[in-house]
Amino acid sequence: MSAPALRANDLISPLPTVDGGFKTILADPPWRFANRTGKVAPEHRRLDRYSTMDLEAIKALEVEQVAAKNAHLYLWVPNALLPDGLAVMEAWGFRYISNLVWAKRRKDGGPDGRGVGFYFRNTTELILFGVRGSMRTLQPARSQVNIIETRKREHSRKPDEQYDLIEACSPGPHLELFARHAREGWTVWGDESTEAEVRGRVHRGYAGGPILAPVMEPHARLAKGTEVRLAKDLRDLYEAGGTIRGLAKETGYSIGRVRRLLELAGTQIRSRGALKIPPPETGWSEPPRPTPQEQPRGTVRSPAP
Ligand SMILES: C[S@@+](CC[C@H](N)C(=O)[O-])C[C@H]1O[C@@H](n2cnc3c(N)ncnc32)[C@H](O)[C@@H]1O
Repeated sequence: MSAPALRANDLISPLPTVDGGFKTILADPPWRFANRTGKVAPEHRRLDRYSTMDLEAIKALEVEQVAAKNAHLYLWVPNALLPDGLAVMEAWGFRYISNLVWAKRRKDGGPDGRGVGFYFRNTTELILFGVRGSMRTLQPARSQVNIIETRKREHSRKPDEQYDLIEACSPGPHLELFARHAREGWTVWGDESTEAEVRGRVHRGYAGGPILAPVMEPHARLAKGTEVRLAKDLRDLYEAGGTIRGLAKETGYSIGRVRRLLELAGTQIRSRGALKIPPPETGWSEPPRPTPQEQPRGTVRSPAP
């Protein structure tokens, strides 16, 4: 028996309208997965995420009625549900044209391997791009590459860079479906679209932001200013519950370098067995193990990403 939705599908408020229809629609639906009790599932009750909709309910949304005759659709779809994404696109009156890839990056720019996946570990997500009627992208799109590379943030939160990209490539009026925040110049719709804060636990290591840790050869020295800034960033992450091993993995630095940077920022290194704040339950599971300071310094190499 499957778990009930937190909110019923029939609690669907009418979609906003505009004269002539929305020329560009961005949607990030609350897709329902077969496994709805796992920790990565949106409905995981203890983690207080959001309710989901079944495929038929998503398809039944009257998007076609609120879209302009000639319009663009940007539709987020999880890799596992690609066929559903295409079906939704068709049901909403759009034809599939292309896609944009969100490549989740670590601080050092490498792929963020904290994603989940039964067959492969997912470090990318897709935005399907579809057109209704006939409308080319705007001029800046001709030089826009179809990849967004940023660090990931809270569970299911998409990168803000998508808005600049969409605004540059597709004309307004813009509508975001299943939005969580208001955005200037956009009409937003969704049952959390007025919330100031994203629900669920936010881990500071997931605060997004630029990739700040430069890639370093094992014995190369960091410039002084970079070293101090990085040391403080790492201290913040460590104090928010990160582990030295986890930080080494995230930055691609050796455990020795991470330790030295933490010490530079005056970080109180936790003693062996000290209570750690558990890592975020978004698929990145750092299994409990002895803290790395118990390892002989300089001999432990950071694990391959
Ligand atoms: C995948 S999340 C959107 C995440 C968002 N794009 C972001 O970057 O933070 C899906 C959203 O749809 C909302 N939602 C779920 N059921 C809904 C319904 N019946 N009507 C409106 N919104 C709903 C959820 O509460 C959630 O905010």
